[in-house]
Amino acid sequence: MTDAFGRVIDYLRLSVTERCDLNCLYCGPGARCESGPAACCAAGELVSMAAACVALGVKKIRLTGGEPLLRRDILELIAALRALPGLEELSMTTNGQRLPELAAPLRAAGLDRLNVSLDSLRPGRYRALTRGGSPERVLKGLAAAEAAGFRDLRLNVVLLRGFNDDELAELAGLAREHPWSVRFIELMPIGAGAELDAFLPAEQVLRALPELRAWGQADAASVARLYSAPGWAGTVGLIAPVSRPFCAGCNRLRITADGRLKPCLHAPEEYSLRGLSGEALRAAILAAVAQKPARHRLAELGHSESARPMQRIGG
Ligand code: 5AD
Repeated sequence: MTDAFGRVIDYLRLSVTERCDLNCLYCGPGARCESGPAACCAAGELVSMAAACVALGVKKIRLTGGEPLLRRDILELIAALRALPGLEELSMTTNGQRLPELAAPLRAAGLDRLNVSLDSLRPGRYRALTRGGSPERVLKGLAAAEAAGFRDLRLNVVLLRGFNDDELAELAGLAREHPWSVRFIELMPIGAGAELDAFLPAEQVLRALPELRAWGQADAASVARLYSAPGWAGTVGLIAPVSRPFCAGCNRLRITADGRLKPCLHAPEEYSLRGLSGEALRAAILAAVAQKPARHRLAELGHSESARPMQRIGG
């Protein structure tokens, strides 16, 4: 699939539930977002929407939430998606709380890769940020993931001034010891994130760790600029949707857990795929792709135009 601006759309982020066992300060609904849960799609519905996208050229699917591991049929869903002909990679973004128990079954079901969110290593701070979680569970989950055979593990750290800016070197330092990519993400003004006065530019990480050097080739499809240092096992990534938007190379579509296709994370438009099949489903996806906007307007407006908070889109 190619959109109106010549961008090849080959990456689907599929939200499988709006529920989450954490409630991060920056993720839930804020004043600008309509809230209220919507009826979640059955696994069969999600698989048929994903299958239609794959038939139209999607090569990579990332499962998001809410927290995807809260879905009771997550392993069946993974197995069904993994069997789609033409799909090259199936990955997941998780908060890691349930990873110690689920890493091995996820691998066995056919999941290829994992991104795990971890905004602080300090238990009290992590608990306050996530309103209830434990960073030890995440670290245990990462160890379980490695033992289960997952490679190229990625950690997502949202940069939060006044919350975790004093532990950037410690968080990045995980990539010194482990072959992981620790990716620092700028706080986006969406949902509750728009009401938090905590933005910190991604460049701040380079100031905290002067030994970091640009690492490897900038991959056109990747949103992260990578860095590393001599002797480090892994890499540090900077993802700067606010200070350095990557809309020009955006290859993504999103489908929400209630079956709506969002061509742009920060635009209000949503196209319902629910109840559609065959040619009607295919036509609805192509029509939505044709409407994918050129870029978001976070910098001009200071807030997202999305009607949903991240918790209901999945990042
Ligand atoms: N800005 C940046 N990243 C966010 N995430 C959730 N909300 C925001 C926001 N407002 C991230 C989470 C997680 C991924 C699913 O999305 O931290 O890593």
